[in-house]
Amino acid sequence: MTTPGPLRSWESLAEFWDAKQGDDGDTWHRTLINPGVWSVLGDVRGLRVLDQACGNGAFSRQMARRGAHVVGMDASAPIVALASQREARSPLGIVYHVGDVSSTPQLPDGSFDVVLSKMALMDMPDGVAEAALREAGRLLKPGGRLVAAIIHPCFEGPDAAWVTEKAGPDTRVWRKVGRYREHVQMLCPWRAPDGSRFYTFMYHRPLAWYVRAVSSAGVAVTAVEEPGPTDEFYREDNEGQLIAQVPLHIVFEAKKLR
Ligand SMILES: C[S@@+](CC[C@H](N)C(=O)[O-])C[C@H]1O[C@@H](n2cnc3c(N)ncnc32)[C@H](O)[C@@H]1O
Repeated sequence: MTTPGPLRSWESLAEFWDAKQGDDGDTWHRTLINPGVWSVLGDVRGLRVLDQACGNGAFSRQMARRGAHVVGMDASAPIVALASQREARSPLGIVYHVGDVSSTPQLPDGSFDVVLSKMALMDMPDGVAEAALREAGRLLKPGGRLVAAIIHPCFEGPDAAWVTEKAGPDTRVWRKVGRYREHVQMLCPWRAPDGSRFYTFMYHRPLAWYVRAVSSAGVAVTAVEEPGPTDEFYREDNEGQLIAQVPLHIVFEAKKLR
């Protein structure tokens, strides 16, 4: 695949991601995605939570502050080092591991009340994402919950774009999508603080793929949320009016039945 700019691995992006997310998350996480995740997660006090692909641990720390016992895992050793530094500076009892969440034999069956996967499954190729969901199913106690936030595959994917049209005093908005049913390796654009662009790989697959993968993992979908802009998001980002009409993220909860 030819790229319009440098392609970066998550490993090489540890400093960038840690600076971007800080302790609370950037605008999109803090004021749009995280409120949607919290509305599905609910009260985590006393729960044992695995944060799969935890990044710099910003959300692990939020869950720990609300009383969860959190284990964070990420495949990038440098980002786990930065998460661990945050933990050392301001301890919340979080245990971090470097590891691929698609294969976690070191963690015993049924050892978590909640497995969280926030904005990471779409960064994994099909086989890896499927295995990560399977691991989530294995690691959950009966009655435990998988909570996953991903880019909304119905509205973000190959060829997706906003289409806006002035209609008198109103602006009408559509979301154009194409090639929805295809599994497509895509480029996710990022902007460095100096304004330069770079890309990571992300993987589009239809929503039905996720539901099938979740069901195969032995968990049943019990809730779905499509985060809408909060007042803060409207103030901090100019896509608020658009996202108010069409969601770009989806959060789902799936319960392990036995
Ligand atoms: C977009 S970041 C999200 C981080 C964090 N969950 C958050 O919401 O800020 C995606 C993360 O997934 C991690 N990742 C990708 N594939 C992984 C895998 N197979 N196992 C563990 N971590 C993985 C990357 O290293 C990166 O830190």
